[in-house]
Amino acid sequence: MLREREIQALIDTALSQRKFAYAPYSDFRVGAALLTDSGEIYTGCNIENSAYSPTNCAERTAVFKAVSEGERAFRAICIAGGQGEKEPSDFCPPCGVCRQVMLEFCRPDFEIILAVNNERYEVYTLDELVPKGFRL
Ligand code: THU
Repeated sequence: MLREREIQALIDTALSQRKFAYAPYSDFRVGAALLTDSGEIYTGCNIENSAYSPTNCAERTAVFKAVSEGERAFRAICIAGGQGEKEPSDFCPPCGVCRQVMLEFCRPDFEIILAVNNERYEVYTLDELVPKGFRL
C-alpha cells in the first residue's frame, strides 16, 4: 500500500508532466508518474501523431522509458489528464491498450492513482481495473 506522502509526490509529478504533452490534435494533455520498487519515478506524457494511430499515451511512455532502462518492477502509477493547460476537471482512467501493457509488467496489486488534483484522487489496483486480464 502506498503512503500518503508517496501518493502526493506521484500526483505532483503526473500533473507537472502534462506540460510536456505533445497533443496538437486533441489538446488533451496527460501526464504520468510511474513508481518502481526501487523508489525511482519515471515520467511520461502523451505524444500524438498526425496519422493518429502511432499516438502514445502518457502511461505507456512512462512504462516504456522505464523498461528501456532496465526497470521491470513497478509499484504504482499516477495519471492526470484534461483539456488544454487548465487543471483537469475529471479523472483520466487508462485506455485498454495501456491496461494491457501494465498487465505485461505489473503485479495484480500494482496501484493506479487517478488524480484530478492533490485533494481529489482515487486509487485502484490493476486487478480491479482489469479483471480476468490476459496473460501468458
Ligand atoms: N491519453 C493518454 O495519454 N492516456 C490515457 O489514459 C487516455 C488518453 C491520450 C491519448 C491522446 O493523445 C489523448 O489522450 C486523447 O485521447
